Amino acid sequence: MRVVLATVLCLSFVALTLGATAEQWRGRSIYQIITDRYALPAGTNKTQCNPGDQTWCGGNWNAIREHLDYIQNAGFTAIWISPVSQNYDGPRSPYGDAYHGYWIADATKLNDRFGTADDLKALSDELHKRGMYLMVDVVVNNVMSTSITPDLSTFMFKQKSQYHPYCPIQWGNATSEQNCWLGDLKVPLPDVNTQDPGVVSAYCSWIQSLVSEFDIDGLRIDAAKHVNMDFWPTFCKAAGVFCIGEVFDNDMSQAAQYQGPDALDSILNYPMYGALVNAFAIPGQRNASAVTDAITQSKALFKFRNFLVNGTTGWLKSQAEVLTTGPYGLAIMKGQVVTILTNIGSPPQNASVAAYTTFHDETAVTDILSCAEYAVGSNGTLEISYIEGGAPAVLIPNNLLRDSNLCGFTTSFDDGEGAAQAASSARVDAGQLSWRSWVSQATLLILVGVCTFLTL
Ligand SMILES: *[C@@H]1O[C@H](CO)[C@@H](O)[C@H](O)[C@H]1NC(C)=O
Ligand SMILES: *[C@@H]1O[C@H](CO)[C@@H](O)[C@H](O)[C@H]1NC(C)=O
Ligand SMILES: *[C@@H]1O[C@H](CO)[C@@H](O)[C@H](O)[C@H]1NC(C)=O
Ligand SMILES: *[C@@H]1O[C@H](CO)[C@@H](O)[C@H](O)[C@H]1NC(C)=O
Ligand SMILES: *[C@@H]1O[C@H](CO)[C@@H](O)[C@H](O)[C@H]1NC(C)=O
Ligand SMILES: *[C@@H]1O[C@H](CO)[C@@H](O)[C@H](O)[C@H]1NC(C)=O
Repeated sequence: MRVVLATVLCLSFVALTLGATAEQWRGRSIYQIITDRYALPAGTNKTQCNPGDQTWCGGNWNAIREHLDYIQNAGFTAIWISPVSQNYDGPRSPYGDAYHGYWIADATKLNDRFGTADDLKALSDELHKRGMYLMVDVVVNNVMSTSITPDLSTFMFKQKSQYHPYCPIQWGNATSEQNCWLGDLKVPLPDVNTQDPGVVSAYCSWIQSLVSEFDIDGLRIDAAKHVNMDFWPTFCKAAGVFCIGEVFDNDMSQAAQYQGPDALDSILNYPMYGALVNAFAIPGQRNASAVTDAITQSKALFKFRNFLVNGTTGWLKSQAEVLTTGPYGLAIMKGQVVTILTNIGSPPQNASVAAYTTFHDETAVTDILSCAEYAVGSNGTLEISYIEGGAPAVLIPNNLLRDSNLCGFTTSFDDGEGAAQAASSARVDAGQLSWRSWVSQATLLILVGVCTFLTL
């Protein structure tokens, strides 16, 4: 949750009843911003702040607005910003200062370290001028304190009955996870009593006015699984916009309960994140420059997502189908996109993963990660060998890549006989993969990005 890098979300829409707002968000690529850290105001000494000091660097809403070209040019069509509410601003806590924005004091006031109401409105206006969306992070589960007997006068809710009594969380006990306090004794996070009707109605009028005053397009909800589930439909209905929640749980069925008409529109795909870590993390060397490469690649890949959203029909709503599963990996098809993943890692193996696709024989396809071309064999077979190591492949028919500006496919591309011929003679050679030596961390980062292709 606290990453500073651009995070592209794998929005999952399992069993979602579609409202208009979820529909509008479905095609978006979202860039996550920790407001204090993303961009500093013009004229600031950019090397003065040491991010490891856990204090404010000075980023704000105006600086985000001044850097929207960068985000838009990278292909993103929405931003998600840190909570905008007033935070704890007292003596430095044992865990530093509230630069991240999640240590809520009074939710009804804006965080003046990030700017004024006019600054936030200007950011929202500028996004909308560009056809982009604004998603704001909200924290309703808890406030922040440096003691378990906080001074309630600094908070939105000032009465003791509006909080659950202090208890440390007993993990695995759902009631305890919802009613006891996150944090620890150094920085306890007093748990707001979201079963109290007065709290519910005050939160609902607050979110309604926040969304309308700043023309917010969607909410990202912090710690959603720590709140009684029946709070969410009421809250999100008052907000009147798409709500995506943080349900930090690797268990698909547990997490899935939080998505649907009885809870939230959508949840972040933590189960997929957990699965990717389990499948692909290998102890080994961490290669920072490989991560840099991964970020460069992901820029190209998500420009690709927009292309699929706009340039093809049905991709967003098609279900991901598992084509092949085996000890070394699996192949998944979503729309016309086949993703082949393996867990064999860097050591080369005389192994391959074959996928039986619905593509016609001899269809020319391209792996958009390596730009290697493949030809579909008889019975729709696509086979990736791992003689040079275990890089993933994302295979798209060449005729869909026209105009994508990926792998040299420009408007002048001819997908006729010639291209298919050329492709059918192309070798499936992992040795062409420029990133065959990537270590697990880099591969994981790419996969987390690529997983927008895998969402159910
Ligand atoms: C910016 O801050 C760094 C680190 O404190 C310092 O070394 C550098 O001299 C400063 N640059 C300017 C132009 O003030
Ligand atoms: C679960 O947590 C609740 C709230 O703290 C507590 O009342 C209950 O006894 C716990 N249940 C178990 C089985 O420990
Ligand atoms: C790290 O990754 C980069 C680019 O992906 C690669 O060129 C370099 O050789 C790698 N370094 C090591 C030590 O593996
Ligand atoms: C889709 O295409 C339209 C018209 O070309 C363009 O204005 C819009 O920005 C595109 N949307 C995405 C998500 O790329
Ligand atoms: C890989 O395995 C195949 C058959 O399973 C064998 O014919 C081939 O020689 C092997 N290649 C290498 C490089 O070991
Ligand atoms: C052809 O594809 C199907 C799956 O579509 C697969 O079950 C079958 O084994 C394949 N046959 C051959 C001969 O590869």
